[in-house]
Amino acid sequence: MSTDTQAKVALSLIRATGRTHLGNYLGAVRSFVTLDAREDVSCIFGVATLHSLTTQGDPEALRRDIRGVVLDFLAAGIDPERSVIFDQTAVPETLQLSWILSCLATAGRLERMHHWKEKKDKLADLGQAANVGLFSYPVLMAADILGPGADIVPVGEDQVQHVEFARELARRFNHQFGEYFKIPEVLEREAIRVPGLSSSGKMGKSEGEKATLYLSDSYDQQWNKVKVAPTDPARVRLKDPGDPQKCNIGGMHRILDQIGLHEAGALQWVNEGCTQATMGCFPCKKKLLDVMEEAFLRDIRERREKFAAKGDGFVDEIIAAGNQKARARIQPIVEGAMQKVGLITRWS
Ligand code: TRP
Ligand code: SF4
Repeated sequence: MSTDTQAKVALSLIRATGRTHLGNYLGAVRSFVTLDAREDVSCIFGVATLHSLTTQGDPEALRRDIRGVVLDFLAAGIDPERSVIFDQTAVPETLQLSWILSCLATAGRLERMHHWKEKKDKLADLGQAANVGLFSYPVLMAADILGPGADIVPVGEDQVQHVEFARELARRFNHQFGEYFKIPEVLEREAIRVPGLSSSGKMGKSEGEKATLYLSDSYDQQWNKVKVAPTDPARVRLKDPGDPQKCNIGGMHRILDQIGLHEAGALQWVNEGCTQATMGCFPCKKKLLDVMEEAFLRDIRERREKFAAKGDGFVDEIIAAGNQKARARIQPIVEGAMQKVGLITRWS
């Protein structure tokens, strides 16, 4: 975090729910790297380990994934000298603030959250009941945001409603107890929704391992997954024309074009080659992976290997240092909020 007091604070957390994949990278981590590089913004990036508990019941997996997320942050190019990287759990004050905010939030408002409604219905379909953590999830997220006094919160479209809720709670607090919290701005990330390789669902969720390109995969592992990915079923033989709109590989080419990773003409080459049957799916897939390999996959893999070779201790030290910085920032802001509502924080 820059010590420049003029710099705006950007904050975002990611849940630790498995290995980081291409969808996480293009959808979120890539925008963190961009913010990390900005001189006018100081960044705080966290692993939302407490939020992970709402859906995670495997302690071993959680421990592994926390370090994995941080390693992937580093591999993606976030510089821990510039940005704070921390574990949500290491700042207990966030939970104190979360409680205060939960006393300002109404149950009716939480019941109307898209995220809650979706999760609850999905669980119901599986014959399971939703836990209270899932219900109050947005309150804890508001505490994450207001605790460090974030100015900017970069999130994907699915989380925008939660950031708006944090803004509401900040206003309500200020109205009831006097001006205190900054009203954070939502920075909606470019809507990039990477499909799984073999379905229309999001990468990572739908078809699991074989349809998901992990940042930690080797090139060969990635190629083996791309190679067998289904394409437009109309393309049985090389001379059968296809429709890139009906193909996830075609969809990924469009994403690369959208975010400026494709050179001029590349998307047209794909579209024409596919619809006019002048190109097979194999070179189309090869092109896709190779563009990503050159643009970021190789760098990420190499950095990841370099950092991983330093052992858990290396990652742990970065988290520990980040935890300290995050807590030093959040603790006084939360203590001030506690005093505002009438709690006594120091008895002597
Ligand atoms: N709820 C977010 C998600 O699932 C993660 C998150 C937790 C978060 N706390 C946050 C994002 C604070 C931004 C700011 O993606
Ligand atoms: Fe998909 Fe490319 Fe094959 Fe067309 S040529 S069906 S876009 S893989």
